Amino acid sequence: MDKNKSELARDIENYVKEFGNDRSALLPILQAIQKKYSYISSFAQQEVARLLDIHPVEVFGVISFYSFLSSEPKGKYIIRLCKTIICDISGKDEVEKAIIKETNTKFGETSQDNKFTLEYTNCLGMCDMGPAMMVNDKVYTKLTPEKVSEIISNLNN
Ligand code: FES
Repeated sequence: MDKNKSELARDIENYVKEFGNDRSALLPILQAIQKKYSYISSFAQQEVARLLDIHPVEVFGVISFYSFLSSEPKGKYIIRLCKTIICDISGKDEVEKAIIKETNTKFGETSQDNKFTLEYTNCLGMCDMGPAMMVNDKVYTKLTPEKVSEIISNLNN
């Protein structure tokens, strides 16, 4: 087992000790792995399944269900742009173009330097201040192409 895998395996054992080894521990264990490694590899999924004595398909099902869990590596900054109707009619398209231009990345993809992942999201509850997006845990509202350019250049510094 390579060094990264053995560290991951050790971490997973510790999470199981901390959260328990029944089904109710599955989500907190996956969240802990996501937090430390930014995604849950297939090796991690197998390990969790083995230690909780459940089928790997069940682990994968939970990862697919929750948008904050991922089975693929993601960028340092995950940009989630609201695609719901009110943001859509208040200038989302221009904001979307600016995000693509500033990050040099398409929606649904991660930049080559692993800095940005672009995703769409449903309503963020900021409809009266749209267009809105999240960058990791932070919400940005009343976006314009200029504001996007400023936010992304700050992330680049
Ligand atoms: S529609 Fe975009 S935040 Fe509600």
